[in-house]
Amino acid sequence: MDRSLREKISARSLRVGVVGLGYVGLPLATTFAEAGFQVTGIDIDQQKVDQANRGESYIPDISSGTLQALIDTKRLHFTNDYAALDDVDAISICVPTPLRKTRDPDISYIISAIQQVRAHLHSGQLIVLESTTYPGTTDEVVLPELESTGLKVGVDFFLAFSPERIDPGNPNFGTRNTPKIVGGITQACTELAQAFYGGALEAVVPVSSARVAEMTKLLENTFRAVNIGLVNEIAIMCEKLHINVWEVIEAAATKPFGFMPFLPGPGLGGHCIPVDPHYLSWKLKTLDYTARFIELAAEINSSMPHYVVNKISEALNEQRRSFNGATVLVLGVAYKGNVGDVRESPALDIMQALMLRKAVVIYNDEYVPSLTLGNRTLHSQSLSSGLLQAADCVVIVTDHSYYDVPWIVREARCIVDTRNMTRGHNDEKVFLL
Ligand SMILES: NC(=O)c1ccc[n+]([C@@H]2O[C@H](COP(=O)([O-])OP(=O)(O)OC[C@H]3O[C@@H](n4cnc5c(N)ncnc54)[C@H](O)[C@@H]3O)[C@@H](O)[C@H]2O)c1
Repeated sequence: MDRSLREKISARSLRVGVVGLGYVGLPLATTFAEAGFQVTGIDIDQQKVDQANRGESYIPDISSGTLQALIDTKRLHFTNDYAALDDVDAISICVPTPLRKTRDPDISYIISAIQQVRAHLHSGQLIVLESTTYPGTTDEVVLPELESTGLKVGVDFFLAFSPERIDPGNPNFGTRNTPKIVGGITQACTELAQAFYGGALEAVVPVSSARVAEMTKLLENTFRAVNIGLVNEIAIMCEKLHINVWEVIEAAATKPFGFMPFLPGPGLGGHCIPVDPHYLSWKLKTLDYTARFIELAAEINSSMPHYVVNKISEALNEQRRSFNGATVLVLGVAYKGNVGDVRESPALDIMQALMLRKAVVIYNDEYVPSLTLGNRTLHSQSLSSGLLQAADCVVIVTDHSYYDVPWIVREARCIVDTRNMTRGHNDEKVFLL
C-alpha cells in the first residue's frame, strides 16, 4: 500500500476530489471536509457549482449553514474544471447511472467522467467509483481506460469500487454513519480505499474484489425491489379477499425473527430501486440467464400506478363521476416522503394516466413547487379546506409528514390512500390500497 497516501490520510493532508455533486456526491464532499480534508467538488452543471460555491445547498440532507461553514474554512470548494484533479490525491466518482429507454444500463456518464479523470491521472492517485453499476464495470470498463495511460494499477495508481448507500431524507443514517463497502482491483487498492473512507466515515467493510462490492449493492437494491413486489402482490390478493393488507403486515411484523416488513404503495420511485436491478438483469442476459425474480418484481411494481388509477376510477364511480372532467387532487408527487425528488416517481405515471382520461389534475407538494409532465407545467397548490372540498377525489401518493391527515379526511369528499396515512379513520369515503 502506498505509504505516502496513508500518511496523508492520517495527517488530514490528503486532497480529495468528488466528481458528480448530486444526492450522493454533495453529502460525500461535505463529510470529507467535515473530517478535516481539503475537498474539491467537480460537476459539469455550472449552476450547481455556482450555487454550492455560494454556500446554497440544493440537497435537503445538507444545510446551507453546514456548506457555508466549510467553504469559509476553505476546506471545500467547487468547480467545473477537471484540471483541479491535477492536485488531488483521491477521487470518488458519483455520477448518474440511469437506464436507456430500452431499460438497458446507460454508463455513458461513468465513461465520460473516467475519460476526464484519465487525462489527469498521476502516480499515487486513488480512484474510487461509487455509482451503482453492473458487476464487472470497474475492472472491465474503468481499469482499461486508466491503464491506457501506461500507469499500472496497484503499483502506480489504485482503483476500487465502493457503493454509495445513502438514503435521502433518513434522519438516522447518512454518509458518515452508514458502513461503507470497499473492494479494490488489488489488495493494495482495497487497503488504500479502506484507509481513505476510514478517515471520514465511522465503519468501512472491505471485500475481496470490486466485483463483490458492485454485486453487494445490487443485492441490497434487488432485495428491496423483490420484497416490495411481493408485498404489492399481497396487497392485490388481500383486496380480492377483502382483507386489510396493512393490518396483516403490522400483525406479521410482531414476529421477532424471520420477518421484515415491507409496505405496498403506488409503485417504485427514485434513482435506485426501480433502476439498479435492471443493471443486474441486463448483465445476466449477456450470459444467457434470465433474472426471473427481478423481472417479475419489476412487472408487478410497474403495474401499481395503473392499479391506483383503477382505485381512483372506483372512488369516482361511487360518486357517479367519470374521469372526464373530474378534479383529482394528488397529495405528494415526490417518490417518497419528506424529499423533493421526483425521479421515476409513480405520481408522474398516475397523473399522466389521469390526464389521458381527461381528468383535471392538480397537486400539492411543498417539496416540489412545479412539475413538468409532457408539454404541461403544473404548480403545487397550497392546501386549504376549499381546495380539498373542491376535488372530486384526493389521492395520497406520497406520505409527507406535513400532511394533517385528520383534517384532510374531514374536508375531502373522497380519498384514495396509497400509503395507509388514514389508518384509524374508518370512513366510507376512504379507499385504501
Ligand atoms: N440518490 C440516491 O439515493 C442514491 C443512493 C445510493 C446510490 N446512488 C447512486 O449514486 C450515483 C449518483 O446518484 P445521484 O442520485 O447523486 O445522482 P444525481 O443526478 O443527483 O447527481 C449526479 C451529478 O453528476 C453530475 N455529472 C454527470 N456527469 C458528470 C461528469 N462527467 N463529470 C462531473 N459531474 C457529472 C450531474 O451534473 C449531477 O450533478 C448513481 O449511480 C446512483 O445510482 C444514488
